[in-house]
This record gives sequence, C-alpha cells and structure tokens, in this order.
Amino acid sequence: MDHFGYQHGTLMAEALPVADLADRFGTPLYLYSRATLERHWHAFDRAVGDHPHLICYAVKANANLAVLNLLARLGSGFDIVSGGELARVLQAGGDPTKVVFSGVGKSADEMRQALTAGIHCFNVESEAELERLNLVAREMSVVAPVSLRINPDVDANTHPYISTGLKENKFGIPMARALDSYRRAARLSHIEIKGVDCHIGSQLTSLPPFLAALERLLALIDQLEREGIHLEHLDVGGGLGVTYDDETPPHPDQYARALLQGLKGRRLSLIFEPGRAIMANAGILVTRIEYLKQGEERDFAVVDAAMNDLLRPSLYGAWQKIIPVTPRAGRERLYDVVGPVCETGDFLGKERQLRVKGGDLLAVRSAGAYGFAMASNYNSRPRVAEVMVDGSQAHLIRERETLNQLWQGEHLLP
Ligand code: LLP
Repeated sequence: MDHFGYQHGTLMAEALPVADLADRFGTPLYLYSRATLERHWHAFDRAVGDHPHLICYAVKANANLAVLNLLARLGSGFDIVSGGELARVLQAGGDPTKVVFSGVGKSADEMRQALTAGIHCFNVESEAELERLNLVAREMSVVAPVSLRINPDVDANTHPYISTGLKENKFGIPMARALDSYRRAARLSHIEIKGVDCHIGSQLTSLPPFLAALERLLALIDQLEREGIHLEHLDVGGGLGVTYDDETPPHPDQYARALLQGLKGRRLSLIFEPGRAIMANAGILVTRIEYLKQGEERDFAVVDAAMNDLLRPSLYGAWQKIIPVTPRAGRERLYDVVGPVCETGDFLGKERQLRVKGGDLLAVRSAGAYGFAMASNYNSRPRVAEVMVDGSQAHLIRERETLNQLWQGEHLLP
C-alpha cells in the first residue's frame, strides 16, 4: 500500500495535490512519500518479529540523504556497495555498526574507509578479496568482520540483468568452493568469520527461489558447524519484488515466516537487504507533456522526463504504470510516452491508453527505487529535483541541478 491516490479527481501525494507540487517545484520531479517508505520499512521489521535481525536498506535503490536519514531514525541498518555509499550513510547519520558492505570489486581504499568507520560486516565475494581484506586489516592492526557471499546457483526467474545467483553471474563464491573458502578465511589472522550471505537477484515475485537458496545455505552452515566454524548471522540479501503492474509478490510477512520456518530453530540472526521493496512504491516521477504528436503508425506523448531521468524502461524494458495527474473525460488514445533524448530507446512507456492534452501532467509510478539513483546527465540534461512529502508538508530534498553544475570540474586546455 502507498500514499499516492486520487482524491476529488486529482492525484495526491499524502495530503498534497501533485499538480500543486509540480507548479511549485517544476517538472520533471521525483516525489516521495515519507509515510509510505516508513510503512514499508516497518512491515519488514515487524515481519521478523523478535527473531534477532537487522534490516539493512540497500542504499543503491535511492541514496538521497533525506531518505537515508529517515531510515536511520527508524533504526535501520544499510547495505552499501561503495565508499561513496558509506560516506552518504555516515553523512545522513546512519550507524556504521549496522552497515554491511557488498560488491565484487571493493578497493583497498574502500576497505580502509569501512574498517575505520567500524562497519558490521564485509560481504566478501571472492578469495582474492578475502586475502586483500586480511592484508588491509593487518596494516591497520584491526580484525575485519566477514560473511562470505555464496552463489547458490538458483534461478531467481527475473530479468537476466538483475539475476545474480546463477553460476554464470559474477557474484559470490561458487557453492563448490564455499567450504574451502571458509577454511581459508578461518586461517587468516585478521579476518573474523561472522556469517554467510547471498543475494540471488532483484524483483523476485515468488518464494521458491529464496527458499531454494536458503536450503543450500543451511546445508553449508551445518557442514561448517561440523568443522568447528560457527556463524552468527545469515544475510539473505534483498530482492523481494514489488507490484509494478499486476505482479503479486509475497508480503514481507509471508517471506519472513517462510524463512523462519526454514531455519528450524537455528539460532542465527537474520540480515535483510531490501531496497526496492522499501522505496519503489514510495516514489513517483512527475512529468509534463510537451507535445502530442501523431506519427504514421502511432501517436507519441513527448514528455519533459527522459531515459536519463528514469532509465529502467530503456535499460530493462521495465514496465511502470503511467497515469494522468488530473484525469480527463473523453476518448482514450494509444500513445508511446517518450522523452526529449535523441535515442529511439528513450521511452518511459509504450502503447499506453491515455486521455490527455498537451501540457497535462503524468505520473510514472513505482519510481522511488532505481529511479533518481540511476539518473545521468546524458544530453546535458540537469538532474531533476527530489521532494519528500510528509503529510501536508513538502520538503525539497534535492535541488534541481543548474546549467553551471553541468560542467563543474571540467577544464579547458591552456
Ligand atoms: N543486496 C545486494 C547485494 C544487491 O546487489 C541488491 C541489488 C540488493 C541488496 C537490493 O535488491 P532489491 O531489494 O532492491 O531487489 N537497477 C535494477 C535493480 C538492480 C539491483 C541490484 N542489486 C532495477 O532497476 O531493476
């Protein structure tokens, strides 16, 4: 459930009309709902009940400082994949002892940064990384807490670009190497084994892939126990899907119940790394129609947002609902909703039934995760503003970029 809905014939973000916000802050505009993102975080947290756990929000989904700060205030942890994300978490007031660090390519500098901050755990993705982390920790005379990210070779049934738990994917340590990698980790002087980690993909809409991965990890955990390697936590990654169209992903309650049943009384604490499930439906992208244009084969609604603002449709062929901010009466027509960027792949939606006129506002739903976070300046388009709605208040949480900012840091030759 989210807090974007129609009232008196116009779309509201919590208690505020989206049309007023578009007038006040301009378009294109990312609009987030505080009540929605908090609700989603609590849904996850409550689902796990009193079983020891940590919700580590995946910063990559939406890294705005205000978003991170609101989650930090709830007591959230964070899943990071770069030194930049760690810096953001700290800047937003996040607790470093609740941070887990994922990613296949951590640099020595990033390791130092994370060890200095005192993070909860490194999710180590290869034996080479383990060796490097040991050296870096030794230089700093500290011990690095680690989980090994295991690739369980499970098909997540999701888009190939966001599937991460198959043998052919670059992520994690292959299951066949897992035991040896743990033995090696146990011998390293500046490594402390804390847990095991996996993340099989994103936008999963059913439980079986999660449970298949869990089963494989539990078998590994039991094997490790027999060798005297005891784990404190199991990090199940992120990946729980959301409704973009008519998908019916499991509710966090169902997901957590299934996992807890699967644990069969084991005393492992659980770490979750949800990104999309918290932020996707807590945000919309508001865009204005610049022109309606009749092609020979189809009609186009040319809007002021483009693939540089919301890349998912172009990159993954992702489908996101596009709705009028203030619906009109009249006959629907079929439109491709396209942006001003000079690429055929620049579209927000294809073949959408809409009743619209030039100048109307549209909202692209489910845009709170992997929306602004993946925005670029392609075609020298300034990145758009972000606003957080909180009841009847709207807060500008990121200013629209100015033209001068476009070439900040660039230099002419003498
Ligand atoms: N943990 C790790 C290690 C991850 O790689 C990811 C996402 C997450 C957690 C969070 O997954 P989530 O709960 O959001 O599904 N840009 C793509 C999604 C890429 C996800 C990458 N990893 C998209 O727009 O669909």
